[in-house]
Amino acid sequence: MLYATPIAESGSPHVVVVGNEKGGSGKTTMAMHLAVALLKIGQRVGTIDLDSSQRALTRYIQNRRIWANHRQIALECPLHRFIPRAEGAKLEDNEAEELAAFEGAVSGIRTSVDFLVIDTPSTDTYLMRLAHLVADTLLTPVTDSFLDLGTLASIDPITHEVTGAGHYAELVCEARRRRRQFDQGRTDWVVIRNRPARGRLVHHSIAELGTRLGLRDVQGCAERIVYRQLFPSGLTALDVLDEATFGATPGRSHRLAQREMHDLIGILNLPISARARRRAAAREEWFASASAPLDLDDMLLG
Ligand SMILES: Nc1ncnc2c1ncn2[C@@H]1O[C@H](COP(=O)(O)OP(=O)(O)OP(=O)(O)O)[C@@H](O)[C@H]1O
Ligand SMILES: [Mg+2]
Repeated sequence: MLYATPIAESGSPHVVVVGNEKGGSGKTTMAMHLAVALLKIGQRVGTIDLDSSQRALTRYIQNRRIWANHRQIALECPLHRFIPRAEGAKLEDNEAEELAAFEGAVSGIRTSVDFLVIDTPSTDTYLMRLAHLVADTLLTPVTDSFLDLGTLASIDPITHEVTGAGHYAELVCEARRRRRQFDQGRTDWVVIRNRPARGRLVHHSIAELGTRLGLRDVQGCAERIVYRQLFPSGLTALDVLDEATFGATPGRSHRLAQREMHDLIGILNLPISARARRRAAAREEWFASASAPLDLDDMLLG
């Protein structure tokens, strides 16, 4: 396997990778919400979609642009790249092509952004492994279900104690080990407990896994229909969900989703600069005074 060079140089973006080999665990939803949250506090954000078959983050961002145009409103959008899988006959050639595409995408935007948010597929691919090698923060959403926990740990059926690491947890440990060897870089691994069941099924097991593997576990989002509704408009729970933006009056569920996402992103401890906060304040003012739709990429990245 060819390895990518970690991005940790001065002036480089902080890389947040969202990953879990369990499909449907909430990776793309998290990646999009995080990207928008960071944009809203004045960070310059790049996003990379490595999910070749679904392109869900790419479609989410496209929907956001279309929606902004349709509603004649200003919506922050990240600088986005999609990297397809190479489909040649030879594995080594495919890896070389994907590595070049990955490094090309990163080097093309690294000096223009403060954060790079990378959404990964739920399959073990070369591109997905590359992303884990360069992660400064790794977010792993997990649904509150013993079945879904299988990518992270095997569990004793009687006591529910952790008996071993799951395939994805091993992959992450290997990536972290390589990263340490390369540049002493450290990946802050945060497991996000989403959609909790009554009685919180896997909380104890994840906490035990945290002690063994050195990960933080945090409370994520509740099961809410609003997260499913927002995709076609490209909106997130963090957008102003008023009549002009959303086309409907926000309900209680919207407000709760907004609050839980704010809380979640707050406890990730990402390196937000004071300069970015000033930029956010200036932009707010600009938005308030502007009447025409904007080319937001040019403005946010300028
Ligand atoms: N907190 C939530 N409450 C209800 N539905 C949610 C929640 N979070 C995500 N969803 C929905 O669950 C589904 C899976 O979410 P998402 O696509 O973000 O997961 P994923 O891990 O990226 O999936 P994949 O592995 O297929 O890429 C989507 O329909 C999404 O709208
Ligand atoms: Mg996805």
